[in-house]
Amino acid sequence: MDRLIVTLDGPAGSGKSSVARRLAQRLGLEFLDTGAMYRGVTAMALQRGIDVAHEPFYVVELARNCPLRFDWEADPPRLYVRDQDVTDRLRDPDVTGGVSDVAALPGVRDVLVREQQQIGRDHPRLVTEGRDQGSVVFPDADVKFYLDANATVRAQRRAAQLREAGRSVDVAQIRKQILQRDQKDSSRATAPLICPEDAQRIDTSDMTLDAVLDELERRVREAV
Ligand code: DC
Repeated sequence: MDRLIVTLDGPAGSGKSSVARRLAQRLGLEFLDTGAMYRGVTAMALQRGIDVAHEPFYVVELARNCPLRFDWEADPPRLYVRDQDVTDRLRDPDVTGGVSDVAALPGVRDVLVREQQQIGRDHPRLVTEGRDQGSVVFPDADVKFYLDANATVRAQRRAAQLREAGRSVDVAQIRKQILQRDQKDSSRATAPLICPEDAQRIDTSDMTLDAVLDELERRVREAV
């Protein structure tokens, strides 16, 4: 098959990122983390001293003038803004704290959606994950999934990731931030987080990563 686009949408901590990367490996597809792109714009804005919550004009200008580029040779792909590798900044707390405001800006979304659609044309065998991949960016995707999990499980998963990265964690605080981010992501006017009508919804709360992977792999193979 020349083209196989699999979309994976869902809230923070639903397991999307870990699942998307491994699913891509199992199926021999490439992997696109679109949250990294919103984080990349946020990291650049902060580096330039822009107040992302109150200076939307400058954030949008920055997104328009600083195209993002992935290095597809790296696994997972590394993200560059112009010549600067911003990958290691993407999970820092200030970036995580500002990214919902950046992702709510229609001007930023216009730019990134177009960049993602171009990536889809250049890399047509792709597992792509985010919030709007099945609904807005690739409405004609071959297989669409929507992963969900309850907030407590999602907070525990995010805490485990941070611990692994050597960060100190407060699970209750993370849960609160996740709920705030869900609220912002699903109530924003442009491309809110929704489960596309034609997506397969999977609740991963009680599933291991391997179980989710087995299920998704089976369903993709069945569908194509
Ligand atoms: O998946 P993540 O935590 O890296 O996403 C970071 C932020 O970007 C989060 O607030 C949701 C937003 N996002 C989005 O609005 N659309 C996407 N396609 C991907 C992420």
